[in-house]
Amino acid sequence: MTDGLTSTQRAGTRRYTTCGELRREHVGRTVTLKGWVHRRRDHGGLIFLDLRDRYGITQVVANPAHSSEAHGMAERVRAEYVLSVTGQVVARPEGTVNPALATGEIEVLADQIEILNPAKTPPFPIAEETDVDESLRLEFRYLDLRRARLQRNLLLRHQVVRFIRQYLEEREFVEIETPMLIKSTPEGARDYVVPSRIFPGHFYALPQSPQQLKQLLMVAGFDRYYQIARCMRDEDLRADRQPEFTQIDLEMSFVDVEDVIELVEGLYTELFERFASKPLLSKPFPRLTYSEAMLRYGSDKPDLRFGLEIEDVSDVFRGTSFGVFRTALEHGGVVRGFAVPGFADASRSQLDQLTEVARTFGAKGLVWLALHQEESRVSARSPVAKFLQPEEIAATAQRLGAGPGDLLLLVADVESVAANVLGRLRNHVARERKLINESVHAFCWVVDPPLFEWNEEEQRWEAMHHPFTSPLDQDVPLLDTDPGRVRAKAYDLVADGYELGTGSIRIHRREVQNKIFAIMGYDDAEIERRFGHLLRAFEYGAPPHGGMAPGLDRTVMILAGESSLREVIAFPKNQRAQDLMLGAPSPLDEKQLRELHLLVIYPEEQNDATAS
Ligand code: AMO
Ligand code: AMP
Repeated sequence: MTDGLTSTQRAGTRRYTTCGELRREHVGRTVTLKGWVHRRRDHGGLIFLDLRDRYGITQVVANPAHSSEAHGMAERVRAEYVLSVTGQVVARPEGTVNPALATGEIEVLADQIEILNPAKTPPFPIAEETDVDESLRLEFRYLDLRRARLQRNLLLRHQVVRFIRQYLEEREFVEIETPMLIKSTPEGARDYVVPSRIFPGHFYALPQSPQQLKQLLMVAGFDRYYQIARCMRDEDLRADRQPEFTQIDLEMSFVDVEDVIELVEGLYTELFERFASKPLLSKPFPRLTYSEAMLRYGSDKPDLRFGLEIEDVSDVFRGTSFGVFRTALEHGGVVRGFAVPGFADASRSQLDQLTEVARTFGAKGLVWLALHQEESRVSARSPVAKFLQPEEIAATAQRLGAGPGDLLLLVADVESVAANVLGRLRNHVARERKLINESVHAFCWVVDPPLFEWNEEEQRWEAMHHPFTSPLDQDVPLLDTDPGRVRAKAYDLVADGYELGTGSIRIHRREVQNKIFAIMGYDDAEIERRFGHLLRAFEYGAPPHGGMAPGLDRTVMILAGESSLREVIAFPKNQRAQDLMLGAPSPLDEKQLRELHLLVIYPEEQNDATAS
């Protein structure tokens, strides 16, 4: 662990020695260490204390023959006591050097031990990397934060942020803070809101992102803005989603897609080359169009650390007599699939399980074909083999790049369902079969997504990214005729199958913005109420602009090799958006409620909702 300072620089700022800096060349010096008791070992005569701080661990020896007073104190201390230890740095005796420890060549022979504060026995061991129930870790987060894993992760996060700041500032970005109490921004999640005391029945919304504010900063002429920005979203939580998270929010004027991509790709290339423990699979990052990503990987955040590429084989089955495929194709659907190399020997129960998994992903079923050589041609073991022509099997195998020994998985459905099911199945099979190349990081860009997405429930178009996203120039005419086919000047940065960040070139002309809102079905009154402030700003000379917001938490999670955001956030919330340490959320007392003009209506299951 290092904070980037040399020990001499550090020495200038404190009157004691840290537990990470003593080396052989310090032997003979008298030092004072301050820290926590990591471990205590009583060897009858000698007592050994491992003293810990965030810089490392130093072994302290209390020898009754040297100082009976220090030895007496060492007898009283327990794990996690806070001590001040003064003594002489001595070389460890032959054979007791600990190469696993940076300070392993020396120990400190205690003259004096002072207990600065005793400690209760912690609810879980600090010194051992044992698995501990996560609720307990979250309740006692300050103790969990003492442990090596979180110390490492948070120091990494700090260094990453420092690096990002430096990178952006070298390129003339200005850090500007934007307010927390704002008006609802439509990023697609539910808002967290704050009641106004002064205006009864009025609420602030906490920002889901600083999107509109950073656009207004471009109108204000700031040209290159960034902020390590806190965002709040009341949405369903997952391992890679927290209700409160941090974005590396940036916006630039007079730019096009290429400029933003170049800046962010440069940042992530340097960041990962500096801080990741694994190399980048490809540089520059591959670019996929959204439609390519959906076709070949069934996902807008493809994991490129493995193959299993999906192919459309609809044309192979155009005239098929296999009912399942024929019906799907007759209804405008597709037949798609991928090959799993070397998995033709899958057992019946493994294949039944795969079919079940495909069903949970929304498939109506799954066709599997286990390929083997039969005389001069490829043949297949499959429950539906008897419905398929040998030519259909051979053509499918060839299109999926498969041969004897491989397993083919095929799904027939409407295009969106087939893509989604196969995308999820692809990830599932890669995990199960251990096909993921875990020794690299694979980045890619996914560009030109659709501008709109059809909301079946509300029977209207909504913005796929957000409503301030610009359409591709060549697709503008389609706004009037076929909004579903309009693509956006938008780009997602994807790493190892995670969406790291999204961004777009924005609309900067009022009439275009109006048209987008109209397609989304907002009337003039609604547009004015929700976005009047932004549209007015666009009438006062808004520069062309665009930007992006990579998620900081996800970035650090991937760099740290963690699979949950909670491991890289100091004080995270649990899956139910609770802070178990602070006990939030919590009820307000009557007086506060009255002041805020609030009356609480408890849901039916009041007892369940408030019990935990
Ligand atoms: P978007 O909503 O796609 O875009 O968010 C951008 C990035 O923020 C991170 N992120 C999250 N991280 C943790 N927990 C969450 N709940 C969460 N939600 C989002 C992700 C995501 O890719 N204003 C636009 C960006 C822009 O157009 O400039 C925005 O917020 O890494
Ligand atoms: P069924 O006609 O439903 O008995 O299905 C016959 C076979 O086709 C079974 O192995 C199903 O798993 C499979 N199947 C059914 N529907 C689909 C589909 N839409 N895509 C792929 N396979 C399917």
